[in-house]
Amino acid sequence: MKIALLPGDGIGPEIVAEAAKLLERLRRDGLRIETETAPIGGAGYDTAGQPLPDATLKLAQAADAAVMGAVGGPKYDALPRHLRPEQGLLAIRKSLGLFANLRPARLHPELAAASTLKPEAVAGLDLMIVRELTGDIYFGAPRGRRINVAGEVEGFDTMLYSEPEIRRIARVAFDIARKRKRKLCSVDKANVLDTSILWREVVTAVGGDYPDVTLSHMYVDNAAMQLVREPKQFDVIVTGNMFGDILSDEASMLAGSIGMLPSASLDASGKGLYEPIHGSAPDIAGRNMANPLATILSVALLFRYSFARDDVAERIERAVQTVLAQGHRTADIVAPGERAIGTREMGDAVAAAL
Ligand code: IPM
Ligand code: MG
Repeated sequence: MKIALLPGDGIGPEIVAEAAKLLERLRRDGLRIETETAPIGGAGYDTAGQPLPDATLKLAQAADAAVMGAVGGPKYDALPRHLRPEQGLLAIRKSLGLFANLRPARLHPELAAASTLKPEAVAGLDLMIVRELTGDIYFGAPRGRRINVAGEVEGFDTMLYSEPEIRRIARVAFDIARKRKRKLCSVDKANVLDTSILWREVVTAVGGDYPDVTLSHMYVDNAAMQLVREPKQFDVIVTGNMFGDILSDEASMLAGSIGMLPSASLDASGKGLYEPIHGSAPDIAGRNMANPLATILSVALLFRYSFARDDVAERIERAVQTVLAQGHRTADIVAPGERAIGTREMGDAVAAAL
């Protein structure tokens, strides 16, 4: 199992180090894991002048799967868009064809109090956001700046989805829904956007092949509201790139902290990039404060989706459950007045529980 490690920026190196610790522990258990590390994002720019250095892309292509930390930071904010750290992440997603982004939001019962929502609203929460990842306004052309007829500067982007792009993400979502509660909610803005009207039509048509899955549609503004009103009405949500970006950050707070949410970004054959959904948190970088659990849970997803090793995935998930039950908390999930442990200590606790 060849795994590329792409720490990135900010807290990225610290959290990926804990993922590496876990992989090392599994290697000592007999799993044949090889890892290699490469820079991406601002780190790529610093070492090779590009947010996605060629060598990093080659490594990720040659590997079976990759674990990424996070990219971005104030140091790079003034760079032109094509050199910004975020472009490294977008480019690797696009180059590897990672169109299906799975973002499970599950509340560990011990963390009910860490959510900003009432415990009864989130108790037992287990939802899956399936976000399309290589299309939409993130990649649509044309985009840029121009001068309009009045001589004013305009910025513009293009929201765009082709029928095949919608169909393939819909299939992924229906397949996942089939293995869960057979309930799929497709989120769009079909009351306003042409892209969304097509989205709704295609998802509905794909639904014809899944008569056993109940499909519903919801406008994204309503979905944002329903997620905090009654999040347990959802099982699987499928949506486009930008709506999925926004709704998954929102959903992370249902699970207590954005530091808890893993993700898997998959291509058509199950090769994947695994990363926490959170960002590089420059404000706490280098302080041994970040929560490594989203990254560690991303490693669990890696074993589940890229290596079909549900047994290993479940071991990791159980280990996380155990450390939470033992009361270990990083700063983002600690109860007022309780003591938080650091990134490394949390990683050690998980490795020990494993
Ligand atoms: C995410 C992030 C990225 C995105 C950024 C860093 C480009 O917010 O993975 O959710 O917008 O997709
Ligand atoms: Mg995001």
